[in-house]
Amino acid sequence: IRAFGSVLFAVAVVAGSPGAGVAAPGEPGVPRFGPGDDGAGDPYFPLAGNGGYDVTHYDLDIDYQPPDPAPAPLEGTMQAVATLSVTPTENLDQFNLDLRGLEVESVVVRGRPARFTRDDGELVVTPRPKMHAGRPVQVEVTYGGTTGRPTDIEGALYGWVTTRDGAMVANEPEGASTWYPVSDHPTDKATYDFEITVPEGLVAVANGELVGSRTSDGTTTWTWSSTEPMASYLSTASVGNYELRTSTTPDGLPLIDAIDRDLAPEASAGLAQTAEMVEFFEGEFGPYPFGSYGAIVDDDSIGYALETQTRPIYSRRANEGTVAHELAHQWMGNSVSPERWGDIWLNEGWATYASWIWAEHDGGDTAQQSFDDVMAIPADDDFWQTVVADPGPTGLFAGAVYSRGAATLYALRQRIGEQAFGELSRQWPARFADSTATTADFEALAEEMSGQDLGAFFDTWIHSPGKPT
Ligand code: ARG
Ligand code: ZN
Repeated sequence: IRAFGSVLFAVAVVAGSPGAGVAAPGEPGVPRFGPGDDGAGDPYFPLAGNGGYDVTHYDLDIDYQPPDPAPAPLEGTMQAVATLSVTPTENLDQFNLDLRGLEVESVVVRGRPARFTRDDGELVVTPRPKMHAGRPVQVEVTYGGTTGRPTDIEGALYGWVTTRDGAMVANEPEGASTWYPVSDHPTDKATYDFEITVPEGLVAVANGELVGSRTSDGTTTWTWSSTEPMASYLSTASVGNYELRTSTTPDGLPLIDAIDRDLAPEASAGLAQTAEMVEFFEGEFGPYPFGSYGAIVDDDSIGYALETQTRPIYSRRANEGTVAHELAHQWMGNSVSPERWGDIWLNEGWATYASWIWAEHDGGDTAQQSFDDVMAIPADDDFWQTVVADPGPTGLFAGAVYSRGAATLYALRQRIGEQAFGELSRQWPARFADSTATTADFEALAEEMSGQDLGAFFDTWIHSPGKPT
């Protein structure tokens, strides 16, 4: 940035016209332009997200052709246009988006074609004219190509996972970039519109509300709109041979479930108590944070569930405990998201704790029993070696992040008492709604709600390895 400013200054001096709006670098009023950062600054995933701008909205228009003929190879094809509403926070002569694989055909910024290059997972865009801080622009990326089976840092399938009859899309932590150009970090939440076109007979399910579907020439376009801010890892546009089931909870919350027609009825039996669960968690955590809810139950392709916003995705079957877990994430993780991936215990600890209290409420094990089960793990077990509040990039989904995280919350409840813990459980999602928060924010709120110094407690439970005594 500085080098560029100096060049400008030198030119102005040589031209001998230092007046009329041309000031020395560093003087106020001189627009300096530079490149945005290639990452959001997350220590675990330095290139996830980007700097220099905020995305406020994504409009994703995707034509998808699943593998044909099934079953092998598991490759589909995608033709897409992503239109991003971008507000620069700095004067930018260059900025990055995250995009892995696929081919970019064109990038248009404010109606003008922009130069771009690809560098691993980074799409580097050079807009002309340059972009001014605070002046929103639209960035339109036309792209497409072959979809496959991307994997995360631990080797698990994630992102746009091509299946025999469609796709299962689950991006945590930074797999959204496998299917659209994105600022792929929870600190850059945005609203979304989806228009997903698939062969007639298939259903595309995304986050938020179903706006409609239209069929012509053998294809169906499914339109979904997600009007609440969403972290990119929670976006989905899964495609399958789904039956759509719509209903409403007694409180009027629309439910839209998408169930793979090839699954046996038991696969979705765990969804039966969804409405009661919503009511129960509203009592614990405050009002349900979004405008609709529901589930996607697809085949065994990815082998895990994800709390995709308003519409969690399940692989093979939705168990009652998992359904409670993914529902609790809507408050704990989706509305309040981790500011850094190292804070993930705030998601998984809360969601696991929530499944404990749901089980107790529903006549199963008490939370005390679930806590005791964790504390029965021998002190020399590797389980106790995970530092819950800093599990490392390959430890995001370690068992301890979930169950030691949940045990931490249960122990905190014993420590600060029912009333302070109840207030904490409601204030946490209220204060940081539609935003992100850190472990330090959580500790501060727990101290505020309880009036206690909890430094030693949190040191033992989440900042140190070893079994708490
Ligand atoms: N957050 C998900 C859950 O707790 C797990 C996601 C696992 N993701 C992965 N890339 N392995 O339900
Ligand atoms: Zn979870």
